Amino acid sequence: VKMPTVLGLEGSANKIGIGVIRDGEVLSNPRHTYVTPPGEGFLPRETAKHHKEWVLKVLREALVEADVLPKDLDCIAYTKGPGMGAPLVSVAVVARTIAQLWDKPIIPVNHCIAHIEMGRLITKATNPTVLYVSGGNTQVIAYADRRYRIFGETIDIAVGNCLDRFARVLQISNDPSPGYNIEKMAKKGKKYIPLPYTVKGMDISFSGLLSFIEMAANTKIASGECTAEDLCFSLQETVFAMLVEITERAMAHCNSSEVLIVGGVGCNLRLQEMMLVMASERGAKLYATDERFCIDNGAMIAQAGSLMFSSGLKSARKEELFEDSWCTQRFRTDEVEVTWRN
Ligand SMILES: *[C@@H]1O[C@H](CO)[C@@H](O)[C@H](O)[C@H]1NC(C)=O
Repeated sequence: VKMPTVLGLEGSANKIGIGVIRDGEVLSNPRHTYVTPPGEGFLPRETAKHHKEWVLKVLREALVEADVLPKDLDCIAYTKGPGMGAPLVSVAVVARTIAQLWDKPIIPVNHCIAHIEMGRLITKATNPTVLYVSGGNTQVIAYADRRYRIFGETIDIAVGNCLDRFARVLQISNDPSPGYNIEKMAKKGKKYIPLPYTVKGMDISFSGLLSFIEMAANTKIASGECTAEDLCFSLQETVFAMLVEITERAMAHCNSSEVLIVGGVGCNLRLQEMMLVMASERGAKLYATDERFCIDNGAMIAQAGSLMFSSGLKSARKEELFEDSWCTQRFRTDEVEVTWRN
């Protein structure tokens, strides 16, 4: 079977990324990140403005680097959701426009599923239990009966959001990402400050922990009881232990021999190290990717779009697909029927 050539567009958070995939090969995957000043997060309106400014440059780069012309593409895939409304729309508009202009089928992709499929493609994991951790999402997922089922998830904020907001309290740089700079500081931490450990059955909570460590930053650093580095270290150790615990329980339930970490927080080497200890003790294998693929990118949308196209949407009418090319801030992982796996 000839695999299609697919262009994928992603912009559900603060990165605009466009990639081209053919036969599971990444032909191009450029990306541009909206970086805010220290102490500031990214807001929907400004993030959408960033994407609008960059989307055509990134699109041209994706096509040139892949050495493909619009006529070589079989379909256009874009992020339908979940994500921030205005950034999602700013990219969906471009996807709809080029699909019309170039007369291509348009494929709406679930962002979380794109992370899972990109992780499976790059690492060759076949049926892993998945930990998906990013600035907007925290879920433990496993495949069963044509769905990616959510075994556990955050009941308030995402783990990446917890790290990002703590970075803001410390006024750490957001370049290249707040999480990367927390990871760097955590390596210099020596003293573990006990923090609330909030695992609730298979679910997990971070907002109380964030309030607690924000207060600790305001009191314990000034009093000399600990350093900012100690707090970064303690925060990582605590939240990653919580994530590894619920992942292990899902693996035990599913009798998994593979665990895959995806999402922006997934490039954190300390998280990978802690997960590896757990996986090794269970006789399971750990799979993870580097920042090119675990951070939001266009190729992952192209890969999920490619699987959806080949396993059914190929026979859909272009007009019908176009009618269905909307986006939504809320779109759960288990809403999608996984037509490409048995
Ligand atoms: C669990 O998986 C292993 C192989 O990974 C297999 O040998 C074993 O029989 C499985 N156990 C159950 C209860 O399915």
